[in-house]
Amino acid sequence: MSRVIVVSNRVPLPKKDGAPPTGGMAIALKAVLKKQDGFWMGWSDNEMAPDGPEPTPREDDGINYQLVYLSKKDLDEYYHGFANSVLWPIFHGRPDLAEYSEARRAGYYRVNKRFAELLKPLLRDEDVVWVNDYHLIPLAEELRKLGCTNRIGFFLHIPWPPADIFSTVPKYDTLLRGLSCYDLVGFHTDYDLSNFLECLARQKQGKIVKERFHEAYGNKFRCGVFPISIDTANFESLAENAARNERLQETYARIAGYDIVIGVDRLDYSKGIEKRIVAFRHFLRRYQPRVNKTLLLQITPKSREIIPAYKAVEKDVAELVGCVNGEFGTVDSVPVHYINASIEQSDLAGLYRKARIGLVTPLRDGMNLVAKEYVAAQNPLDPGVLVLSRFSGAARKLDAAMLVNPYDTEEMARTMEEALALPRRDRIDRWTAIMTVLREHDVYKWCGDFLSSLNEHRAGHSNE
Ligand code: UDP
Ligand code: G6P
Repeated sequence: MSRVIVVSNRVPLPKKDGAPPTGGMAIALKAVLKKQDGFWMGWSDNEMAPDGPEPTPREDDGINYQLVYLSKKDLDEYYHGFANSVLWPIFHGRPDLAEYSEARRAGYYRVNKRFAELLKPLLRDEDVVWVNDYHLIPLAEELRKLGCTNRIGFFLHIPWPPADIFSTVPKYDTLLRGLSCYDLVGFHTDYDLSNFLECLARQKQGKIVKERFHEAYGNKFRCGVFPISIDTANFESLAENAARNERLQETYARIAGYDIVIGVDRLDYSKGIEKRIVAFRHFLRRYQPRVNKTLLLQITPKSREIIPAYKAVEKDVAELVGCVNGEFGTVDSVPVHYINASIEQSDLAGLYRKARIGLVTPLRDGMNLVAKEYVAAQNPLDPGVLVLSRFSGAARKLDAAMLVNPYDTEEMARTMEEALALPRRDRIDRWTAIMTVLREHDVYKWCGDFLSSLNEHRAGHSNE
């Protein structure tokens, strides 16, 4: 059986400060590689002495890794620079936050070339390579330059923006050309795919050569929609077991008597955390009997902290939390519990289960796994309600959630009230409808669909 070689910028090992990895992509692919022969190549976030030119092998929790060292210059230019200060904001519809420089772009291409040089000698002919996310768009092109004929697939874990927004990336054409060097390019939603095809069309590229194959920049490749998901069964049992976890029992006792509204997000401007807190304040002002009876538990591990736009969101959220707690707090309690730590999934599952509302309101999100985890963690006999932003990829399939526009404060407040007042029968109906989707489309189906599509007949890049 051929091996699967996963490549991504970050591998899911604990971070420098010992915090467990967060981020949907790492968590989903880890579940997959535990079932599949191969290895995962990427950066581990830890300081590693560059022993030599080769990546460092490491085994952890049943997964083989090949760890790539990134210097401070690499991190500045490639990771914090082009990937997270140009591509991330633009792909999330915020070109106003992009901070482009030629040095950042050069760093991005330099690191992609290095990944290719490190990976190529480790590959066997029959290996299938699965490249993940916006950090590594040019990787296939670099591998092809080195003579690599393996099947290479790419999956984008973030949204693909409309053409006018995409074209604010300086020299965006090279990104499109880079993607044409893969055998398969996957997106979360049909909206992302059609945006991508529109970008190609504007470059007078991307004609359909035969069913499901596209041709651009002289290369033939396939595109597809593969909505990522969670390990649904595992999450259900994590949540059931959490009810017996002693430490959580103490937390449960402290929050007993309150209706819990839970938000779980990396501290990122795309997650709409400020607007969510403003909406929660509006809810408390408007529905006075809910004051002192409702708690917003906002779990928000810090992310990409040295980037100015992230510093700004950190400051804004902290100030807003202070204002709301000042307005509604008493000597005994405050309405917003704001936590900047990363919580283990086994504990998260138990907290989701206690929450009457899962408040998932990103301004833009590729998919959003928290939305799916929240639903999977509920008690089937008395489930809470998912309140979900229309601008998350998850909303495309989970239309039994209560969908909201995160820019509409009043609608968000009103929906929270409706969710808390929803009769049990209606909550069970909504939960059942979502769980039917999640049981059918779990992370293993996502992975299986992507890999079978990648293994299908190829058109190009090989001597087949
Ligand atoms: N997560 C976690 N601990 C935390 C916060 C988040 O394990 O304290 C996990 C969460 O369970 C989910 C992932 O991080 O699996 C976040 O994925 P999502 O798709 O919601 O957002 P992303 O961070 O990828 O933008
Ligand atoms: C999102 C991205 C991932 C990224 C994760 C955490 O899920 O799609 O590629 O790994 O956020 O961000 P970080 O910058 O800490 O790796």
